[in-house]
Amino acid sequence: MTPSTLRIGWYGLGSMGLGMSLNLQKYLQTNNLSPLHYSNRTLSKGDVLHDEGAVPEEKFEDLVRNSDVIFTMISNDDVLTELLNKALVVGDSLKGKIFVDTSTIHPDTSEWATSRLGEYGAAFIAAPVFGASPVAAAGKLIFAVAGPAKAVETIKPLTNVMGRSVIAMGEDVRKSSLLKISGNILVISFMEVIAEAQVFAEVTGIGNQQLEEFIGNMFGPVLESYSKRITTGAYAPPLDTSPGFAASLASKDMKHALSIAASHSTRLPTLEVASDRLISARDYAGECLDSSAIYGTGRMEAGLSFWSENSRQGN
Ligand SMILES: NC(=O)c1ccc[n+]([C@@H]2O[C@H](COP(=O)([O-])OP(=O)(O)OC[C@H]3O[C@@H](n4cnc5c(N)ncnc54)[C@H](OP(=O)(O)O)[C@@H]3O)[C@@H](O)[C@H]2O)c1
Repeated sequence: MTPSTLRIGWYGLGSMGLGMSLNLQKYLQTNNLSPLHYSNRTLSKGDVLHDEGAVPEEKFEDLVRNSDVIFTMISNDDVLTELLNKALVVGDSLKGKIFVDTSTIHPDTSEWATSRLGEYGAAFIAAPVFGASPVAAAGKLIFAVAGPAKAVETIKPLTNVMGRSVIAMGEDVRKSSLLKISGNILVISFMEVIAEAQVFAEVTGIGNQQLEEFIGNMFGPVLESYSKRITTGAYAPPLDTSPGFAASLASKDMKHALSIAASHSTRLPTLEVASDRLISARDYAGECLDSSAIYGTGRMEAGLSFWSENSRQGN
């Protein structure tokens, strides 16, 4: 297989996967390469990809049969396990295929995938990404990539299309999953402290916008964007829209981080607080919440309403 003859498949068209796969399809089309084949639980989410020349596949098994490299960008470990078990049905024709998971999963799941696919001669690359959905749409993600060196080299032009940099993590797939989880320790902990400071700004009358201006000037655009999720009300978006980084996914990531830390006899106290507060937010306001909904819990603890003037108002 040379890069020019590779057939590329994509499964998972959520808030991250759609932007990433669109960038991939545009690259394939511009370079006169075979179009992307794609699939998703809700196939209609791929209509925009179809308009760009990509080819829909009803079933994951067919996507696997018709692709040499299969990317997945799905919500969690259970979904990936279910998909790969379906792929194993394809059996001996898996030989030589490369599976690239870009989701955030537990290192044990990456190890399991390597071992099961390896039994059929297929390679597994754990390639989780850093950056929210607008970053994915802009093709500016940061990848942490681990897997067999030859397979990693084969997919390099593709990760380059979707990302601004690739952190090489070697052959041990556990390592890139672990780096991703440690990245999310930082992301969610930043969110926790910004939420705390924004509640402080509210109750003392400093003003949320003024604090946000300070955050932007002092700490730069990334932390300012976390603050904006709070001040724009995106932490609790309208019920007919999808949150940027769903609270349920952040809870999954925190669960992975806390269990791995515990298994190494270490603690992540900031993340413990953030995890409890996000669970409280989900209990109160349901699942249509961004990871920044920690802020809503902080508001309630301060005697304010969960909902701000810019968020949705209830369920
Ligand atoms: N959002 C972020 O800021 C961000 C950043 C970096 C990494 N991540 C990680 O990237 C992954 C995807 O995140 P996302 O924000 O794109 O999530 P999302 O918008 O919730 O999309 C999840 C995807 O998984 C599919 N899915 C969910 N349950 C399924 C099931 N039971 N069977 C088959 N498919 C199923 C969904 O299909 P449907 O379309 O049919 O629902 C969708 O394609 C997660 O692991 C997340 O932790 C997210």
